[in-house]
Amino acid sequence: MKVLITGASRGIGKALIDEYLRCGVEVVGVARNRPEDWPQSTREAFFTCDLSKQDNWPRFFDFVKRKAPFDICIHNVGVNEAKPFVDLDENSVLDQFQINLLFPVVFNQFLLREKLLNSRSSFIFINSLAHFSAYPGSSFYGASKSGLHSFAQGLAVSLKGDFHVLNVYPGPVETEQARANSPLSANSKRMSPQILAQKIVRAQQKRKQTLYPGFLVFAFIILAKVWPWSLEWTLCRSLFRPLLKANPAKV
Ligand SMILES: NC(=O)c1ccc[n+]([C@@H]2O[C@H](COP(=O)([O-])OP(=O)(O)OC[C@H]3O[C@@H](n4cnc5c(N)ncnc54)[C@H](OP(=O)(O)O)[C@@H]3O)[C@@H](O)[C@H]2O)c1
Repeated sequence: MKVLITGASRGIGKALIDEYLRCGVEVVGVARNRPEDWPQSTREAFFTCDLSKQDNWPRFFDFVKRKAPFDICIHNVGVNEAKPFVDLDENSVLDQFQINLLFPVVFNQFLLREKLLNSRSSFIFINSLAHFSAYPGSSFYGASKSGLHSFAQGLAVSLKGDFHVLNVYPGPVETEQARANSPLSANSKRMSPQILAQKIVRAQQKRKQTLYPGFLVFAFIILAKVWPWSLEWTLCRSLFRPLLKANPAKV
């Protein structure tokens, strides 16, 4: 069994790598940096490149071709920059769409076209609650994740029977991305990346199509559907305002 994970140097991607290595599964990863504790014996199984630059994609695709076939591909790489959207730098906007949406879509197409996955393989998409609710300060991030949601759903329908597609919608997870984009007061509610990784591995093994990790995530989605304005108000007060207070230089 071989797993390919994007955004694998830290956070959720790194926790997934550790979980699969513990299960004795072969892993192949990509990020700009190789994790410090990446096994020396498998150095060639980690590709370092900046995925925000389309010029780097062909080199990465060649690498993937050499490492194929895979049984699971985890589209985990994702970036966010919480800020009022009118103030966001144009490059940051482009990076968010490029990394969160365009790259996984083009890469997925490449994997299928080149037949680099074994039959009945799984695609796992790490999405976000930002898909379900207006997420003040992360409008572009939310838009890119909603695009990814639609793509993954279309893929699940068109590949039904041949491949398995799992969509994961985590709430706040204790990673660098969450620390940079949500205030410290939200710390206590963040899930550990290790716990999330275990839930994802189990959900894939059971061939689930959707994973809402934790009761709070489930409650968030119900609220977003039945009482969206209350959720938007709460997010504004609990995330956006404290973020602006803590980082006045960002405004
Ligand atoms: N943390 C949360 O609360 C949360 C909640 C919901 C969804 N998510 C989603 O979960 C996924 C993982 O997030 P995370 O919290 O683990 O983030 P993270 O800690 O910031 O890790 C992001 C990973 O992506 C890699 N990466 C970033 N920019 C890259 C680039 N230009 N080229 C190649 N690799 C790049 C990073 O490695 P390098 O820096 O070495 O390149 C790192 O391995 C994302 O899709 C995110 O949107 C996170």
